[in-house]
Amino acid sequence: MFYDVDENPACRPLPRNPFKACVAPRPIGWISSLGVDGVANIAPYSFFNALASDPPLIMYASNGHQPHGAKDTVTNIEATGDFVVNVATWHLRDAMNATSAPAAADVDEFVLAGLTAATSQKVRAPRIAESPINMECVLVRTVELPCTLPGSRNVMVIGRVVGLHIADSVLTEGLIDMAKLRPISRLGYLDYAEVGDLFTLRRPGQKGGQD
Ligand SMILES: Cc1cc2nc3c(=O)[nH]c(=O)nc-3n(C[C@H](O)[C@H](O)[C@H](O)COP(=O)(O)O)c2cc1C
Repeated sequence: MFYDVDENPACRPLPRNPFKACVAPRPIGWISSLGVDGVANIAPYSFFNALASDPPLIMYASNGHQPHGAKDTVTNIEATGDFVVNVATWHLRDAMNATSAPAAADVDEFVLAGLTAATSQKVRAPRIAESPINMECVLVRTVELPCTLPGSRNVMVIGRVVGLHIADSVLTEGLIDMAKLRPISRLGYLDYAEVGDLFTLRRPGQKGGQD
């Protein structure tokens, strides 16, 4: 079958748009930021990924808008220049989901979700203390993307990771242990997954210890 994502409704022979299920699993960037007024904000973003390792760069994309206007995360990051990406885990799934509510900009989403704000080392945005991995980031740039929804903004935010907080509880012999971390990812529709069975592949010519 062929699904026309653009203009032709006659070529959409499926009950729901399948696009996001075609790009799965997507890691979840659970982003904490600070407004210029000092109100802390948290929201999950699954249009999220790492872009480079040297220097470490990440991106996320903000699509659409809130009832009160632009999404608070991008507003805060553009105003303050920094943010924290927290890893969403199985144990934190309900709190992660709670922070996706379209809360007004003056709502502290740490309070909303019952989470604890921890001070960061190199950025002003707070970290989520309950998350076992926090990545402190500074804004590199925003990139405007095509947008078909009137009154909305599609924008990619690129950040440079300047520090990593990693809980000892998710380490085994100095390596991040996925069985301990239990990160969750977004699939299509309303579905999520957590990391299941692992397997290892060595690239052609790759020596032990390289990654
Ligand atoms: C798992 C998950 C992933 C999400 N991914 C995105 C995304 O990639 N881009 C986006 O604009 N909204 C995404 N959302 C919706 C935002 O989290 C939601 O609009 C949130 O209220 C934004 O909050 P903010 O205004 O504080 O930034 C996602 C929601 C969930 C639950």
